[in-house]
Amino acid sequence: MENFDFYSPTYFSFGKDAESKTGSLVKRFGGSKVLIHYGGGSVIRSGLLGRVKASLERESIGYIELGGVKPNPRSGLVYQGISLCRKEKVDFILAVGGGSTIDSAKAIAAGTVYDGDFWDFYEGKPVTEALPVGTVLTIAAAGSEGSPDSVITKEQGMIKRGASGDAYRPKFSVMNPALTQTLPPYQTACGITDIMAHLYERYLTNTGDVETTDRMIEALMLAMVHEAPKVILNPDDYQARANIMWAGMMAHNNSCGVGRTQDWTSHNIEHELSAMYDCAHGAGLAVTMPAVFTYTMGHDITRFVKVATRVWGCEMDFENPEATARAGIEALRRFLISIGMPKNFSELGAKEEDIEKLAHTCCYGSENSDGTITGFTKLTQKDVENIYRLML
Ligand code: NZQ
Ligand code: ZN
Repeated sequence: MENFDFYSPTYFSFGKDAESKTGSLVKRFGGSKVLIHYGGGSVIRSGLLGRVKASLERESIGYIELGGVKPNPRSGLVYQGISLCRKEKVDFILAVGGGSTIDSAKAIAAGTVYDGDFWDFYEGKPVTEALPVGTVLTIAAAGSEGSPDSVITKEQGMIKRGASGDAYRPKFSVMNPALTQTLPPYQTACGITDIMAHLYERYLTNTGDVETTDRMIEALMLAMVHEAPKVILNPDDYQARANIMWAGMMAHNNSCGVGRTQDWTSHNIEHELSAMYDCAHGAGLAVTMPAVFTYTMGHDITRFVKVATRVWGCEMDFENPEATARAGIEALRRFLISIGMPKNFSELGAKEEDIEKLAHTCCYGSENSDGTITGFTKLTQKDVENIYRLML
């Protein structure tokens, strides 16, 4: 295991009706003038926004609103949010929604207190200062409710990039699993896929002797495989929703990623797909992961054999460990298809003729890129093109 520092100070309020505590939590963490940030309207239709506002009013906390965050959130609304917060002297940002809304809220929080362009953070500048952010989560997926990350798409060039820093960790997150019962089945499945990806991207490590975090990841994967079919079959299954929601947070607040190198190849390759075709991040990952894993498994067959036998219950083929590794990847692929995820480029709306451009942006798209993506293995543009071809 490698040395690490881990600071994860988010306060979680989990369970039925937890959103009624929002006002008191904002107060506890020092907010007196709040920007409520939300997405395309699901929180209005469900009545959640009204309940959150009532909770703020009970604590006499002033607020303004900015809705309209799109999935794969855009920089344009972030700039609008920054101006609004400065003009209205906002001191706390409250995201009510999914990962996209939370990520947009985080970008506004950092941009408001920064003299330069907030996009600097998405070109690699660490986030060290931001207005405090709180979240009321409505989908188990991105894990942004407990993570130090935010992912934004810049309209100019449709470049999707992440920024990171402990200042991005929410002060609190309200997690009521019942709020996820209104999700369309496709979005539920996209969320499940994203959670699985966050676990896989940590599992694929080059660090030895990481039994504790290996076993934590395997446990969360097993829980996901057990609970996912239940919510697909019965969207109102509160207990299954609850288990998935907490797994989503655990998968990405990095408690099971510390002390080990991580992969993130699938995320990097997927981000180009959701940037170019505006597909859901989880759907893009469903197509990307099996291709990436098939391409890179030769780097360390044992890792893939471990997950195949311990999580997917594949029989160990001692004569041919590669066959076991492949069976594990196939089991993942079948699981994702069984919950309603796309299986190839065309089902995602992606086009073969774009492959070179996608791979080029992936490897050269940022100011600080060196033409490769490095995670579990180091990949060049040609490798990335080959991976996209495996998705056809
Ligand atoms: O916009 P509204 O109307 O709210 O509808 C949303 C949206 O259309 C809908 N939705 C959310 N909760 C709902 C609901 N509909 C009905 N009932 C509910 N309870 O679902 C759609 C998707 O929402 P979104 O916020 O985009 O989902 P998700 O949480 O999957 O976030 C995806 C974004 O997070 C980024 C992704 O790249 C993507 O941009 N990620 C952020 C990470 C982070 N900050 O740590 C890590 C992830 O790896 C990921 O990259
Ligand atoms: Zn993700």
